[in-house]
Amino acid sequence: TQHSTSVDERLYKICELLEANIEYYSWVGFYFRNGEKEELKLGPYVGEPTDHTIIPFGKGICGQVAVSNANFVVPDVTAQDNYIACSITVKAEIVVPIFLNGENIGQIDIDSNTPDPFTEADERFLEFVCAEVANILD
Ligand code: SME
Repeated sequence: TQHSTSVDERLYKICELLEANIEYYSWVGFYFRNGEKEELKLGPYVGEPTDHTIIPFGKGICGQVAVSNANFVVPDVTAQDNYIACSITVKAEIVVPIFLNGENIGQIDIDSNTPDPFTEADERFLEFVCAEVANILD
C-alpha cells in the first residue's frame, strides 16, 4: 500500500530545509492554535528545545501574532517588552501567520542569532511557505 508522509513529518522537513539553507535562520518552528483554546501549541521545529510549548494568545511575539493576524518582524528582541525568551543567543525574530480559509490557524516562528537580519524578502518568502503549509493542512 501507498505510504503517505504524515503532516508533522512534512512540516518538520520544511523546518529542516529552512534552518539548513538560510544561515541566519537559527531556530525554525510551527505553533498552531490548540483546539478551541485561546493558546498556541508548539508543533514541529528544528533548533534548541524550548520550554514554551504552550503560549497564551497575546503573550510574547507569537501570542501577539495569534491576535493581530499580521507578520511581526523583531530586529532586536531586547527592545520588546512583550517577549518570551527561549534562548540567550537569540537576537531577532520573525513570526508569520498561517491562514486556512481566511482563519489564522497558526504561524511559522523563526529566531535568529544574527542581529536585524530579516527583510521584506523574508516576509514574502515566509508568506509563500505558510500558504504551502495551509495547502498541506487542507
Ligand atoms: N520568542 C517567542 C517564543 C517562542 S520561542 O522563540 C521558540 C515569543 O516571544 O513569542
